[in-house]
Amino acid sequence: MNNKDGFNVTPWDVTGEVDYQKLIAKFGTQEITQNLLDQFKRITGEIHPLLNRKIFFSHRDLDLILNNYEKGQEFCLYTGRGPSGNTHIGHLLAWKFTQYLQEKFDVELYFQMTDDEKYLHIPNMTLKQTLGYTYENVLDIIAMGFDSKKTHIFSDIEYGKTMYSIAVKIAKHITFSTTKAVFGFKNSTNIGMVFFPALQAATCFLPSILKNKKIPCLIPAAIDQDPYWRGIARFVAPKINLPKPAQIHAKFLPGLGKGGKMSSSNPNTAVFTTDDVDVAEKKIKNSYTGGKDTIAEQKLLGGRPDICPIYDYYKFLFEYDDSKLKNIYQECKSGKLLCGDCKAHLGNKVKIFLKDHQRKREKAKNVVEKFMLRD
Ligand code: TYM
Repeated sequence: MNNKDGFNVTPWDVTGEVDYQKLIAKFGTQEITQNLLDQFKRITGEIHPLLNRKIFFSHRDLDLILNNYEKGQEFCLYTGRGPSGNTHIGHLLAWKFTQYLQEKFDVELYFQMTDDEKYLHIPNMTLKQTLGYTYENVLDIIAMGFDSKKTHIFSDIEYGKTMYSIAVKIAKHITFSTTKAVFGFKNSTNIGMVFFPALQAATCFLPSILKNKKIPCLIPAAIDQDPYWRGIARFVAPKINLPKPAQIHAKFLPGLGKGGKMSSSNPNTAVFTTDDVDVAEKKIKNSYTGGKDTIAEQKLLGGRPDICPIYDYYKFLFEYDDSKLKNIYQECKSGKLLCGDCKAHLGNKVKIFLKDHQRKREKAKNVVEKFMLRD
């Protein structure tokens, strides 16, 4: 992506204020239309707030997946995590929606942990560290409530025998100039990173290869991961005679500071699932908001929920009741709701969520092997 738009979105870096409409045009994806929402409603009986609020806003071939599903054809879900640190609440967005889709459509899920990617990409990361984060992040994934019989999690490093044979079939069709164009790799990029996209694309075909039949997959993720599908997996699929993967793309949960997405590489502006609940509450209390400089000004002129990360946390994750969300929006705009109270209310919600999640995370330690794919 060039920077003339004032923002940049790659799998490793998101900067500036993202204009999602422009991104749809640049990446060549499709907007999620009312027709698609109606189709969801027809199939599941409802429209999930993350769809209705256009937080999942864009797709590739979602219409194909839903049309075929209505005709009785199966599909599977695929998503992943690059274990570079502890899980933050931004990661939970795609996982929460994936868990919802698994439950509604009763489908298998393949969950890739790209410990190889994080080892290769982060200069000081050791293999031991990233494998340690794989384990820690897997506890969060399990805590989200995925069905153990239908969820298959794997680490690229540990499940390498199976993955490598698929990745080489992909890599054979991708030139160095393609990876440079798609990912911005330079001559100074290590060759592990140049090969890595074949691994992330390989999971799109893993279900078909494991089950020896063509099973298309649908990938819920934020839109930063799109280059893997656009530039690699969808290009290679017809060459290896397997279905192109479909995608459903989310916007980014912002960090606690002014601008930018929540990211493991900015730990000071992220709420981690492993944070002490009081620490998390304090982080929220100290967050940037869309409020005015003084209480008097805010009471008079109102706040700016449209640029407020606190409002986004409600909208993305912590307030799925539309009328309550609308109330927060209107009371903020009118100056009735002040930032201190709004943050205190959210802090309390986050605390309750984290306590429950951390309890589930502990319990997950007993069932990890039920979820893991092994060579
Ligand atoms: P990773 O670990 O960077 O991100 C994991 C998932 O979280 C999403 N995400 C966010 N979503 C909303 N707001 C944010 N602030 C935010 N930050 C991250 C990412 O889009 C992703 O869905 N290479 C991948 C791992 C991977 C993968 C996949 C991800 C392998 N196969 C298939 C998605 C789908 C990575 O490092 O993700």
